[in-house]
Amino acid sequence: DTSLKQLSEAKGKYFGTALVQSNLSNSALVGVATSQFDMMTPGNEMKWDTTEPSNGSFNFGPGDTLVAFAQAHSMKVRGHNLVWHSQLPGWVSSLPSSQVQAAMETHITTEATHYKGEVYSWDVVNEPFNEDGTLRQDAFYNAMGTNYIADAIRTAHAADPNAKLYLNDYNIEGENAKSNAMYSLAQSLLAQGVPLGGIGLESHFILGQVPSTMQANMQRFAALGLDVAVTELDDRIQLPASSANLQQQASDYSAVIGDCLAVTRCVGVSQWGVGDADSWIPGTFSGYGAATMYDQNYQPKPAFNASIAAL
Ligand code: XIL
Repeated sequence: DTSLKQLSEAKGKYFGTALVQSNLSNSALVGVATSQFDMMTPGNEMKWDTTEPSNGSFNFGPGDTLVAFAQAHSMKVRGHNLVWHSQLPGWVSSLPSSQVQAAMETHITTEATHYKGEVYSWDVVNEPFNEDGTLRQDAFYNAMGTNYIADAIRTAHAADPNAKLYLNDYNIEGENAKSNAMYSLAQSLLAQGVPLGGIGLESHFILGQVPSTMQANMQRFAALGLDVAVTELDDRIQLPASSANLQQQASDYSAVIGDCLAVTRCVGVSQWGVGDADSWIPGTFSGYGAATMYDQNYQPKPAFNASIAAL
């Protein structure tokens, strides 16, 4: 029978999911993950607070466990992530700004070297932008200015020259101030010879709000010579979800997959988590949930059938 991954592979793309270490002991989840998905993004285990909780002390055990699982099940891995304002240990934000660049470079070099050859791509900088298209004034920006992004990508490239190096953000799926800023940044990085390889569109959607400009937006990044990917797809519903809501969610998933299929440089779609039971949405967006293709018991929802049909 057909699966998300078989149908995607037939089109030269992948279909991914995020996993966290505790998922691996859930047999229902593992059954779906290994039968449907051929790409895996660690949900938390490669983030700075896990991998370098104190200065110079590295912990790759949790990430290694997920990588081994992925390899055992022929899933590729999206490395997520090297530099991000969130899940950043306090020691980094407390550093004198004169020491931030060296700390960032050491972190990137050590982590990207550890996973060299094992990750298909890296989200080198995650969520750099504010909604208005200005850069977030985080520890990295405050220490280095805009140039921290070029420096991070160059440092990752030196450690793992074969990994596709991404900038990843949310609310950049359609054409708007934030995606325009990402586009300008991408143009400027490429003009400086920075080895940027792709743009990740997180795609944490609200039901019925997939932007109509998503395909055109992906296409303009592709036209710069970049890959694009839907990296963290989910589609949150105000609970309780009605059957009409689930039908709308099915058409939302279908639209996103259709947009990716229509753009040659869109390399694949990844959902953020396997099923509704694993999703980060209820814990972060109060009153919302039911955001994935599988219900609380890992039974396929209308969004799954629509995704299969769209592929
Ligand atoms: C989320 C994880 O799913 C949660 O477990 C964690 O508590 C917070 O981060 N954008 C990203 C992801 O790039 O790393 C986030 O993952 C969701 C939003």
